[in-house]
Amino acid sequence: MAIVIRPGRPDEATLLSDLALRSKGLWGYSEQLLDSFRGELTLTPDAVVVRRTAVAELGGMVVGFVTVDGAAPVGELGMLFVVPEATGEGVGTELFRHAVETARSAGFHKLVIESDPNAETFYLARGAVKVGSVESESIAGRKLPLMEVDTAPPTGSTCRSLDTSDPQSAN
Ligand SMILES: CC(C)(COP(=O)(O)OP(=O)(O)OC[C@H]1O[C@@H](n2cnc3c(N)ncnc32)[C@H](O)[C@@H]1OP(=O)(O)O)[C@@H](O)C(=O)NCCC(=O)NCCS
Repeated sequence: MAIVIRPGRPDEATLLSDLALRSKGLWGYSEQLLDSFRGELTLTPDAVVVRRTAVAELGGMVVGFVTVDGAAPVGELGMLFVVPEATGEGVGTELFRHAVETARSAGFHKLVIESDPNAETFYLARGAVKVGSVESESIAGRKLPLMEVDTAPPTGSTCRSLDTSDPQSAN
């Protein structure tokens, strides 16, 4: 089944917040822990737009989403969630690839990721590197892997003019 990636809509804020919480449950966290993640997993209608949310559909159903947050040159892959029933089908990879492309087109040179510890291998296998760790916003004392992914344009893709009448290119 083809994975379709499209922009998220403000009216999907609640659906996506619920999806994020359900997705987080993949890792077997207790109800109490999931509840403490609720704040950081909640999207408002405005945030869906501001955070450049992209949604993945499989067979016409919303099965995941990703956000690209902040302003160039350094952004954040803030949220990446796939429903448990659709994991392992390539949806996360497609959303990750889409986020990198979105960041590159918006002029970001890199994206940082405060990863769930269980998702670290997913990001490492897709080109991210671990650069340190950060404390969780939700749970004091919990350390999260801090990852980075390079989104700078490939070297050699400069658009500088070769016209010799351009004083910038005279020497
Ligand atoms: C991490 C996540 C986004 C991957 O999405 P996905 O659609 O399953 O990913 P894909 O099908 O494209 O790729 C599968 C990869 O996911 C990881 N994965 C999927 N299910 C997993 C599971 N039950 N246990 C461990 N790793 C798993 C593996 O790293 C796998 O990589 P591999 O193919 O190189 O072995 C998804 O599992 C998820 O939403 N997890 C819960 C929420 C979360 O932690 N999100 C990241 C927040 S930083």
